[in-house]
Amino acid sequence: MTKNRILLVTLMVAVTFVASATVAMAGPIVIKFSHVVAENTPKGQMANKFKELVDQRLAGKVEVEVFPNSQLFGDNKVLEAMLLGDVQLAAPSLSKFNKYTKSLQIFDLPFLFKNMDAVEKFQQGPVGQKLLMAPKSKGIIGLGYLHNGLKQLSASDPLRVPADAKHKKFRIMSSDVLAAQFEAIDAMPLKKPFSEVFTLLQTKAIDGQENSWSNIYSKKFFEVQPYITESNHGVLDYLVVTSLEFWMDLDEGLRTEIKKALDEAILFGNNIAGQKATDDRQKIIDSKRSEVIELTDAERQLWVDAMKPVWKQFEDEIGKDYIEAAVQSNN
Ligand code: LMR
Repeated sequence: MTKNRILLVTLMVAVTFVASATVAMAGPIVIKFSHVVAENTPKGQMANKFKELVDQRLAGKVEVEVFPNSQLFGDNKVLEAMLLGDVQLAAPSLSKFNKYTKSLQIFDLPFLFKNMDAVEKFQQGPVGQKLLMAPKSKGIIGLGYLHNGLKQLSASDPLRVPADAKHKKFRIMSSDVLAAQFEAIDAMPLKKPFSEVFTLLQTKAIDGQENSWSNIYSKKFFEVQPYITESNHGVLDYLVVTSLEFWMDLDEGLRTEIKKALDEAILFGNNIAGQKATDDRQKIIDSKRSEVIELTDAERQLWVDAMKPVWKQFEDEIGKDYIEAAVQSNN
């Protein structure tokens, strides 16, 4: 070997060594999954299932860290944090994308879906699948829909007819449609983060709120709200999101594996959501801390009549054809 050749080989060995040392030092890709609810909810369980699957299948390559209960980011900050690269996965309620897209507001229209089967049908249909990418121009993409369930109205006084809610203060998520929904019944909506709801109710700073059975149960809202009206007036579901930049930077093979684990975790969450709602509703009734008010058909119709004009108000922003597609999913 000539001197030059020896030098070249030595250099190549050195470069290979440094490169592999760098890879070893870089360690696994970390996916921080931040959410605001308790672990014993469809979203909490889904996040933990995703971690479990990734631990089993991608150990050493990908590490998932789950932060429940707004420990890392509250719901008003998580999407900003995602764009900064401080968190890689989240599943905010579909009502929390106002700043990123107007199309997802469709899910907030009151009395749009008659049950969760209709919600599922719409989400898996062509419009629902298109809406996964609604926030893409802002750098956020949807990887799937996760169910929680239909929303109920809790309050410090019994709510049987819309007039009972008049002038009462209700906490809402950061959605203009939800604000319009409460204004339509002459109530006062207040946009507040989920982490503040219990204290706001306990101190009587607000009179009520709307949420799913699993959130009302796991966050103990029923202990500070003597009445829950079983209104089923809207849906509380989630968009599982990541940042476009993070997602596209992943090696293709790894991205496929991560998506597969995520799809399985979402399916797991969706499969337990319905039963969880039934069980948590029953636990609230059994606790005797809160009375569950079942509406007669005539009473329910009054809520529908009062709230449904909100559809027209948001028709241009959302798209009439999208609303029609959602209505069709009830058939
Ligand atoms: C809420 O803010 O009321 C809920 O969306 C919280 C959640 O993520 O379920």
